[in-house]
Amino acid sequence: AVRRPAVSAASFTRGVSTQPDTSCNTHTHTHTHNLTPPMQTVTLIPGDGIGPEISSAVMKIFEAAKAPIRWEERNVTAIKGPGGRWMIPPDAKESMDRSKIGLKGPLKTPIAAGHPSMNLLLRKTFDLYANVRPCVSIEGYKTPYTDVNLVTIRENTEGEYSGIEHVIVDGVVQSIKLITEDASRRIAEYAFEYARNNQRTSVTAVHKANIMRMSDGLFLRKCREVAENYKDIKFTEMYLDTVCLNMVQDPTQFDVLVMPNLYGDILSDLCAGLIGGLGVTPSGNIGANGVAIFESVHGTAPDIAGLDMANPTALLLSAVMMLRHMGLHDYGNKIQTACFDTIRDKKVLTKDLGGNSKCSEFTAEICRRIQDMA
Ligand code: NAI
Repeated sequence: AVRRPAVSAASFTRGVSTQPDTSCNTHTHTHTHNLTPPMQTVTLIPGDGIGPEISSAVMKIFEAAKAPIRWEERNVTAIKGPGGRWMIPPDAKESMDRSKIGLKGPLKTPIAAGHPSMNLLLRKTFDLYANVRPCVSIEGYKTPYTDVNLVTIRENTEGEYSGIEHVIVDGVVQSIKLITEDASRRIAEYAFEYARNNQRTSVTAVHKANIMRMSDGLFLRKCREVAENYKDIKFTEMYLDTVCLNMVQDPTQFDVLVMPNLYGDILSDLCAGLIGGLGVTPSGNIGANGVAIFESVHGTAPDIAGLDMANPTALLLSAVMMLRHMGLHDYGNKIQTACFDTIRDKKVLTKDLGGNSKCSEFTAEICRRIQDMA
């Protein structure tokens, strides 16, 4: 696809994108190409299982790239606040409120622990309304598809996952799909803004307004309205089933896709599958008031935790997404290139990628390549 020329870091962070908090800058000069950009704080939630190993890999790689990030590490486990409400620990909340940007490893969801999933709690606490997953084919990592280069943008707060369910009478339950004008407009605006700021040329709204005329109809209407303000981006609408069919036949026809919650949950995993699965797919959760949390979407991999076998690629690429979100494109590009070159070269790969190297060896190889670029 034809891509528009790169935009500046300043325009990248305008509009609904997050403005990085630079209130604790240690540098007083302004950011130019010749100077080191100011240090910015990021809240790091290493997570459980392999989380600490892959987080430490990312920190090492950032250090090799001299990325201007100061990590503030916080653990999150659900605690019961006043009134018995589940909440994330105050020091983690306080850090996120200040830094606005988080990087998160996987968190275990203990079955029968009595508290909601931590991921859900984080989403609610920071009103993370957009889940963004770029799915880009990785050269050298063979899947049935080549040249996939698309982004799914999922509405993350309502729709089918509103959690409003009741028993009408014995044997009959009802689940309510809630769609609001505000949330639909907000996600549509985010999708178009994302497309514009990331040199993408089209946005496809995915829906079933032929069946769910009112709810998906409202979602679609808001997408159409927002599209009017983005004449530089091509807008198309497509039924979910048609998208699925076309996606598995030829994913290269898609660019940015925007959709309600349930469709996004399913389609984003399907798209991750096209490029090799959750181990290589980055993800970002964009919130209100400038908050954003980037995360790997795989789990805690308890079977290999502590064995130095984990593949840090998904968390690393999420951290690259984070750098771009913060306007630090040069650092992001450098790290991504080193990671993709390492995979393409096939000499140092973790087991899940078909190799027999340790996480620490894979990490060291990426660091070496970054240092060679300098
Ligand atoms: P999982 O993703 O942890 O593991 C599935 C398989 O993939 C395992 O064989 C594992 O070794 C492998 N794997 C996953 N990530 C890998 C990596 N980076 N490198 C190499 N191999 C990797 O899924 P599972 O076993 O269903 O879940 C385990 C725990 O993780 C549960 O407590 C679950 O609730 C939690 N979880 C957390 C998520 C999150 O925080 N976003 C997402 C999914 C699960």
